[in-house]
This record gives sequence, C-alpha cells and structure tokens, in this order.
Amino acid sequence: MNVLRICGRPEVVETRLLVVFVKEGSEQPSRGLGEQLYPIVRRHMDHASFVAKKGKSLLIPIPDAPEGVRVGNVLLVCLGNGAYVDDLRSRTAETVRRARALKIDEMTILLPDEPDEATSCAVAEGAVLGSYVFERYISRNGDERPQPVRQVGICDGNEAGISRGVVLAESQVFARDLVNEPANVVTPVTMAETADATAREFGLECQVWDESRLERERMNALLAVGRGSAVPPRFVHLAYRPVRCAPGCRVPRVAIVGKGLTYDSGGLNIKTGDSMRTMKGDKTGACDVLGVMRGVARLAPAVEVHGIFGAAENMPDGGAFKPDDIVRARNGKTIEIDNTDAEGRVTLADSLSYASELAPDAIIDIATLTGSCAVALGNWTAGLFPGDETLARDIEAAAKRSGERLWRMPMDDEKLREAIKSPVADVLNSGTRYGGAICAAMFLQSFVAEGIAWAHLDIAGVDMYKEETGIYGKGASAWGVRLCLEYIRSLAEGTEA
Ligand code: BES
Ligand code: MN
Ligand code: ZN
Repeated sequence: MNVLRICGRPEVVETRLLVVFVKEGSEQPSRGLGEQLYPIVRRHMDHASFVAKKGKSLLIPIPDAPEGVRVGNVLLVCLGNGAYVDDLRSRTAETVRRARALKIDEMTILLPDEPDEATSCAVAEGAVLGSYVFERYISRNGDERPQPVRQVGICDGNEAGISRGVVLAESQVFARDLVNEPANVVTPVTMAETADATAREFGLECQVWDESRLERERMNALLAVGRGSAVPPRFVHLAYRPVRCAPGCRVPRVAIVGKGLTYDSGGLNIKTGDSMRTMKGDKTGACDVLGVMRGVARLAPAVEVHGIFGAAENMPDGGAFKPDDIVRARNGKTIEIDNTDAEGRVTLADSLSYASELAPDAIIDIATLTGSCAVALGNWTAGLFPGDETLARDIEAAAKRSGERLWRMPMDDEKLREAIKSPVADVLNSGTRYGGAICAAMFLQSFVAEGIAWAHLDIAGVDMYKEETGIYGKGASAWGVRLCLEYIRSLAEGTEA
C-alpha cells in the first residue's frame, strides 16, 4: 500500500474514487470540491435526499465527467460530531475496504478541513490498517477475491504526518500478521527467530535465551509454564539505543514487556474447546513488542527502548507444571500454582523481574491476561492498571492520540489483595473470579522492583475480532502497538536528541 500526498484540487486529480468527507449536520460536501464537481455531487445529494448523519455514505458514479475532470466516482462519507481524528482514521479504513469490494485499487481522499500532521497521520493509519487482511493460507486457484487497494492519495496531505502514520500502521500490521499465524507455525522458538531477524533488519540489539540459559538465569517461572510443551520456551530482549545523543544528554529509558504464549490450552487446568479457540492470540503482547521495536527503529526517537518477552506454549503433558507446584521466579519470590490456566502472569513474573534489573524510568507490560478484563470492559476497551500516576496519565494521553480505548482500573483494593495470598509461598497465581483482572495485576506488581514506574495493560478483550469494524479487520488487532509508539514519542518530545 502506497499512501501519498496529492497536490492540487480534486477537479484536476485523476482518480477512480474520490472520497469526500461531510461533517454531520452539514449540508455542504467538504471544501474544495471545485466548480465542476460540486453541482454534480449536490444534485445527487438532493436526489438521494442525503442527510449528513454519522455512518451514512453515498456513492456517486461520474459516468460522463465534465471537460477536464478525471474522477470516476465520488464517495460521500459522513463524519460524526465526536473525536474528529479518530473518526477520520476509522472511516478511512472503512472506505479502503469498500474500494476493495468495488474492485477499485486506487483512491484519493479529500479532508473537510486543511490537513495537518495529526489528521494526515490518522488517514494514513486508516488506509494501511483498513487494507489489512490475513489471507496467506487461502489458495488462489480460481479465486475471485478482489486485490487489496494499492494506492491512497490525500489531497494536500501533510508529508510528515503521512509518513509517520504509515510507519505506525505498518508496525501494527507486522504484529497482526504474527498474531494471526497459528500455533503450529509460530512457536516459542520461531518467535525468538523472528525477534532475531527483526533485530538484524533494523540494527537492534537482540539477546535470546534458550532453555539451558534459562536454567542458569533462574527463569524458573517461564520454564515451568513451558514444561508441558514439545517446544521449549525462549526469552527475548531487544534494545534500541538512540545514536544522536548530544554529549551528557540523558534520554528516557523505557521497557515494554509482552505476554508471549504462542498457545494457551490452559495446561492441566485445560480449557473447554470453545475457550481454546483464539488462544493462538495469547502471544499478542509479545507480537506487539516486536511491532513497537520495528516502529521505534524506523522513527528513531530520542528514547532508549527495551522490548522484552518470554515465549512459551501452555500444554498438558507428563512433564507439565501442576496445581500445587511451587516455583521460584527470577527475583527470588515463590509462586504457588493454584491454576495452570493463570499462566501468563507466571511467565510475566520472570520478565518483569528481568526488566526491573535494567532500572528503566518506566515499564509497561501488555498482556492478554484475563477473561475477566473482557467481562468488565467489553471487546473495545482495554484495562489500564496503574502502578504510577504520571505514567498512567501519559499512557492515557497517548491512547487518546492513537485512538485505542482504555479504561483505568483500581489497584488499591486491599481486601481483594488477600485473594492472592498463599499459605505456602510468597504469592498465589490465581485469585478470585470476581475482580480477577485486578488480582492478576496485583500479582504482577509484586515482580516489579520498588520505585520503578509501571503500568499493566490487559488486552484480553481487544486482541481478536470476528467482524471488521473501523481500523480492525477480521482476526488479530495488535491493539497497543501505536499506543506504545505514541507514548514513546511523547517522552522524546521533552528531550533534545
Ligand atoms: N489467556 C487467558 C486470558 C484470555 C481469555 C485471553 C480470553 C483472551 C481471551 C489467560 O491465560 C487465562 O486463561 N486466564 C484465566 C485466569 C484464571 C484461570 C484465573 C481466565 O481469565 O479465566
Ligand atoms: Mn490461561
Ligand atoms: Zn493465557
């Protein structure tokens, strides 16, 4: 997909599909339609009794265009009165899918207001994300499926905004592709290989620990979770260090930690068949980490970024970890296993201990951690569990810009905390069903070193979609990649590189 700035008014642009946004309640199609196209569009609007209401659109074929006009079709799309930038991102994605269905592979977008960096970025994101499909396993023999849209132009788009939007979206698309791969293809070992290949491609530092190194490094929690699988676990640490740092300058240091379960069968506490479906998506956090690291390498912010994940497959077998087991995590704390299906937090115990040793200014973990977070917030809002007020605010601000919804959850319920007390170990790995997402977050907190700003994002509700909506296609969303990149950018803004 090529997203580019188009110079000039739409009447002189050659395009098969001109997307014209109309603001809700406005009778006017957006500015700059031009003397020749305007009356045609106006006539069709009247003829169709088109009322500018959110969600409405009108396709206007221009079969015999006036002299000099080279627009094949006009697609009027109505924007709501809500957040303008979010709306542009989602509606653009939908129009790209519509163009594809119409077998139109090239389109041009006209914004109602003068494009600036933020709106151009959002439209570019929408274009790339909306064109995403995961179809590599569908045989093409005699397949009538339309080809993806190849080019999206933005009239007078802001160049910097467009190129940033493309990088942000491509980073997310990379993560989506990896999440969508099934567990018979992507294993802990291939996850580590992908990390290594990413590091080579972008000049990042990369460390991969295999099972014998994991033993030596006291990563017993990650090893325990991976014990029942035929494929051994891996631990991955990628690092990006800004090069253009003036002498004596100190850049912010951030660690992004992902949950990387390439499959979660539940282990001996095995899931039902229905709940097992989509569990290839339990590696979303780790895939997000890889997407973020690619984005960081391309955007080169003045921030040191560490991408960390433990990859394992949670399976039942003679060697699998069991309820009643007690495992010692890297930071020395012991975990009593109550339920092998609460495995994500066990792997994260080691990853967060490791991340803490780097003493970064902030740690953000991102994990498809609990079904109860999905129950609490639904499928379009992730849970933000704040371990630090400033960090939580920065993340909320970044989420506003990236358009990824999240909601702050409480972490101060001392009665609930009793649910993760164990009579035989330092902490218990399950908790109660009520408030399960909070119990999980509290569990994680005990593996973050005192004094380090930390936040946990539970993305169990938002990681996979059955239907296409806005920027989300069918399958993996890779929710959080752009949010993390926006957060990193906000840190870089206060720093001189
Ligand atoms: N990977 C699941 C959480 C999940 C559920 C992600 C649905 C995406 C969609 C996690 O490992 C899990 O199984 N959690 C249990 C915890 C319980 C056993 C304490 C859950 O949420 O039921
Ligand atoms: Mn589980
Ligand atoms: Zn899981």
